[in-house]
Amino acid sequence: MVSRHLVHARIATMRGGRYSVIDDGALRVEDGRIAWIGPSNAAPRDAGAEVVDAKGALVTPGLVDCHTHLVYAGTRAGEHALRLGGATYEEIARAGGGILSTVLATRAASAAELRRQSVVRLEALAGEGVTTVEIKSGYGLDLDNELKCLRVARSLGDGHVRIRTTLLAAHAVPPEFKGRPDDYVAHVCSDIIPAAARDQLADAVDVFCERIAFSPEQTQRVFEAARAHGLRVKIHADQLSNQGGAALAAESGALSADHLEHADEAGIAAMAQAGTVAVLLPGAFYFLREQRKPPVEALRRHGVPMAIATDCNPGTSPMASAGAVMSMACTLFGLTPEEALAGMTLNAARALGLESEIGTLERGKHADFVIWEAGDPAELATQIGMIRPRAVFFAGSVRP
Ligand code: NIG
Ligand code: FE
Repeated sequence: MVSRHLVHARIATMRGGRYSVIDDGALRVEDGRIAWIGPSNAAPRDAGAEVVDAKGALVTPGLVDCHTHLVYAGTRAGEHALRLGGATYEEIARAGGGILSTVLATRAASAAELRRQSVVRLEALAGEGVTTVEIKSGYGLDLDNELKCLRVARSLGDGHVRIRTTLLAAHAVPPEFKGRPDDYVAHVCSDIIPAAARDQLADAVDVFCERIAFSPEQTQRVFEAARAHGLRVKIHADQLSNQGGAALAAESGALSADHLEHADEAGIAAMAQAGTVAVLLPGAFYFLREQRKPPVEALRRHGVPMAIATDCNPGTSPMASAGAVMSMACTLFGLTPEEALAGMTLNAARALGLESEIGTLERGKHADFVIWEAGDPAELATQIGMIRPRAVFFAGSVRP
């Protein structure tokens, strides 16, 4: 049995979504899980354990990026320039750019090439203390290419990052189904979802519910198929317009509703009732130069758990930085640094249905934690690019 003992750490356990700091804390790891956590002076002695002295440094749970599209090929740098010149995301998408241009590049790439391009983004996140990453498909949009993207996503873990995969075949209508969205939805429901479930390639199913993508009614059909195959659902909701996505998430028992810039009060109240997590994505808000912020005050008032994520993708959020997204959540959306860190730990774990396994440092959970070159947890959401992990532990072992 491998046992390790971390001592003299300033542990922000994130229990209950608060810093919940243990000032001179200790943490004991057995077989990859937290066997004991508490004050150093009360820690059980074990002569055989390997001791790691944090020397007063801050320790937090490994960060969780619960919404990314980081498996894709190519770039959309040209579109960024068009948008800076005044074109909107919707105009570019309607003119055949946007998601569909990434679909063409992703279909053309072999699995090995796709992996080579994607691993760079995963490594950037991992280098900032991220130990769990959700990755969506959605740039294949046909059976073989959606499964290719999910397989590549799964292969990126390699024992040092926990990967969760989400099937987002309902991201856009592919060129072969142009003008026939209902036929594509039927194909997603009767072919793509069953295949992904059969090959155990997806942990959940997501839909882009938006006027340039799929209607609430089409979203419901996809969700029914997902449930029939035992898969949880998530939704890109109310990003560019109010489609009633928040309420739909709640009534569908979704793990999360993501974006939510245009969500209304009734939808938020429904999410609170259902326990649906709000995933806020400040990177997309920033890169699209949106004006309308998600209703953070209403989310707080109704007690909806708020997660934050990079949304790492080539079009609306070309970024792979946990530090940047926590800082942006505070600066752009008005979260407190504590809410931002809870958004990338406990609440992000909830958005993946993993809150009993990761997201806080508590007995029984996976020993995913970061020793930071910092002393105060508020520093993590206050800076961009200035704090690096001193060491990252994944399932109890130091990541090389
Ligand atoms: O989360 N909203 C839809 N999907 C992505 C954008 C994908 C893209 O433009 O490539 C998002 O913002
Ligand atoms: Fe997204």
